Amino acid sequence: MAATITRETIKIEKENGITWLIMNRPEKRNAMSPTLHREMEAAIDELATDPETLVLVITGAGAAFCAGQDIALTFRGRESASPADIRRNRQASAQWRWDKLNTFPKPTIAMVNGFCFGGAFTQVCACDYAIAADDAIFGLSEVNWGILPGGIVSWNVVQVMNYRDALYYATSGDTFDGRKATQMGVVNFSYPLDALREETIKMAKKLMEKSPAAVRYTKEAIRAVRFMNAPQAEDYLNAKSDALKYVDKENGRQEGMRQFLDEKSYRPGLGHFKRKQK
Ligand code: COA
Repeated sequence: MAATITRETIKIEKENGITWLIMNRPEKRNAMSPTLHREMEAAIDELATDPETLVLVITGAGAAFCAGQDIALTFRGRESASPADIRRNRQASAQWRWDKLNTFPKPTIAMVNGFCFGGAFTQVCACDYAIAADDAIFGLSEVNWGILPGGIVSWNVVQVMNYRDALYYATSGDTFDGRKATQMGVVNFSYPLDALREETIKMAKKLMEKSPAAVRYTKEAIRAVRFMNAPQAEDYLNAKSDALKYVDKENGRQEGMRQFLDEKSYRPGLGHFKRKQK
């Protein structure tokens, strides 16, 4: 039975190690208001050290994943907001969608159940993995509003899309669906909407079978080396590997070798390592 926590603009559901963090303004297609930014920021902070959260899934309530920034409250609202409010909102918006999600210590999955526009690309890119409904609609629609993909969206999309696709979709404002998003690498997989949740759970379970320390250090390493040259990466990866030996309380390295060399029960090419849980 899922435990549910409801706040003004978000919902948190916890079940079997998976925490579903849901943007919950379905009547506004989960467009991001200042309140939603603050609530998401606080929730992500809390969940980072929550022992019941082994995998975090970000998704949206109703027909949309997220329709981007709330145009009324963020853009038009900004005209009458105080400099302090603008600053607070901008910080909360950037913090949860990029800084905190991108460094979340446990696996994160963006489950894109429907419309995904503009600023919503940031939380999709910040998550470790993304899974979309085949028919989900993605759009870098900023150009239609006479603005550019700001915040950090332009930087996010050139990390996951190739240069030509990023330029084309950002300047044309054309939409694309979940299948196309998979082809372009914006998401890992797409599925029919009615299978999306089940497939997300399957992926989360697969991740929960691995040593949490090995998954965490691996994802941190993959992220970090993208911005290093080869000698820096080599040095960093050696140090990170040494640190992993120290932090992995399950001692997955010894256990893997024991299963492969002594017990002969595990062969990586032919099956899955049996995690020895504490
Ligand atoms: N900001 C503020 N309000 C938004 C919004 C946004 N980004 N996206 C949707 N809404 C509001 C609509 O104004 C409408 O409000 P109302 O009921 O008070 O009139 C409500 O959400 C439902 O939207 P609607 O357009 O009627 O739903 P739809 O299902 O027909 O279409 C979208 C959904 C997402 C395709 C459409 O709302 C849309 O294009 N939104 C803008 C997306 C966008 O470009 N975002 C990036 C901004 S940079």
